[in-house]
Amino acid sequence: MKDLSYCRDQFLSLRRFGRHGQPLIYLDGPGGSQVPDSVVLAIQEYYGHRNSNTHGPFVTSQETDQVVLQARTHVAEFLGATPATISFGQNMTTLNFLLSQAVGDFLTSGDEIIVTDLDHDSNVAPWLRLQQKGLVIRHVPLTSSGTLDLDAFRRLITAKTRLVALGWASNALGTVNPVEEVRQWTNQVGAWLLIDAVHWAPHGLIDVSKLQPDFLLCSAYKFFGPHVGVLYANPGLLETLPTLRVRPQIEVGPERIETGTLNHAALAGTTQAVNFIASFSENPSASLRIRLEESMSYIYRYEHDLAGVLYDGLADIPTVRLYGPPVDDVQRAPTISFTLEGQSSRQVATKLGERGILAWDGDFYAINAIESLGLAAKGGLVRLGLAPYNTHQELLRTIAAVSEIARAM
Ligand SMILES: Cc1ncc(COP(=O)(O)O)c(C=O)c1O
Repeated sequence: MKDLSYCRDQFLSLRRFGRHGQPLIYLDGPGGSQVPDSVVLAIQEYYGHRNSNTHGPFVTSQETDQVVLQARTHVAEFLGATPATISFGQNMTTLNFLLSQAVGDFLTSGDEIIVTDLDHDSNVAPWLRLQQKGLVIRHVPLTSSGTLDLDAFRRLITAKTRLVALGWASNALGTVNPVEEVRQWTNQVGAWLLIDAVHWAPHGLIDVSKLQPDFLLCSAYKFFGPHVGVLYANPGLLETLPTLRVRPQIEVGPERIETGTLNHAALAGTTQAVNFIASFSENPSASLRIRLEESMSYIYRYEHDLAGVLYDGLADIPTVRLYGPPVDDVQRAPTISFTLEGQSSRQVATKLGERGILAWDGDFYAINAIESLGLAAKGGLVRLGLAPYNTHQELLRTIAAVSEIARAM
């Protein structure tokens, strides 16, 4: 595998400094990762050479058709799917609202949908809206250790369940959910499984050909790309749903849920984001999928090791309280969240920011999780999210900074 300096050299943003001259430490990846130069160049190249709309009888339009197809092909390889199952949109939230509208028009009053108290609200609010149509929404509760209550989850899935909307990994706590097991439960009752893979996609391998979800969503700006939402739908499934469409729109395939003109420049960038991930592999002659599999397994191990350093270092500070599963052999996203006794999460994140350490605080839209952990009134958590461009040295600096902030109380 390529080493760390190979990775860091690809990002212009890693060469900038903070207000006080310190090198910036980007731990804000769960809110959007940094973007490598190849992605930036692809966006610029699109506007400079191919800027057009699709399906025209002239060169820039025909090349734009290729840009869209290439993005579908690359994202399909990234997810272990085929290009015809990949739809694009503004972001995950917008695609999920479009999908939930279509699902709501398809289902009937009394049908049940299951959401979880761990999920980002983008995978809750679109389904809650369907209560207006007489659909029943059931909630899987969270345990105090930051994992879903799986016994309650299993009991909620009945013959009335039509769809389970589940996050693969929590963007607030790093918890990874047992998606394969839930797939089995939903199969037993013939319910659809929708996976929000936004937080997992940058950190672990996704293979929809193995998991076989009905729908899976992710967002390219979390995996080194621009702001593009991605929806995988099981072949033929979108065609059964009454999606919102203008009349001339293509009625089948991925276009069926793509309203209006896509962001073609961002799609050119998305292709390069997938190529960037694949470039960690040292097997240039292997297929794109094989290179992606190798790269994702490297990224997972690298980030998991760093997450262990960060978790243990923070755990040694007496006034730090860590949330979410410990970093050990359990599968986990490298997202470490904590509170510091006597200081609000906003105060801690601000002090980290002053030291050039970029960290988010709050609920991260995982509002039910933050509420059930009793943190809503206290300003939520401080979240440190890792990416392959982070270094061991950066984490030591971060642990020292948290320790200093704790002592200065
Ligand atoms: C787990 C999770 N789901 C959904 C979303 C929403 O994604 P988007 O910004 O593409 O709508 C986010 C964004 O942070 C997220 O972390």
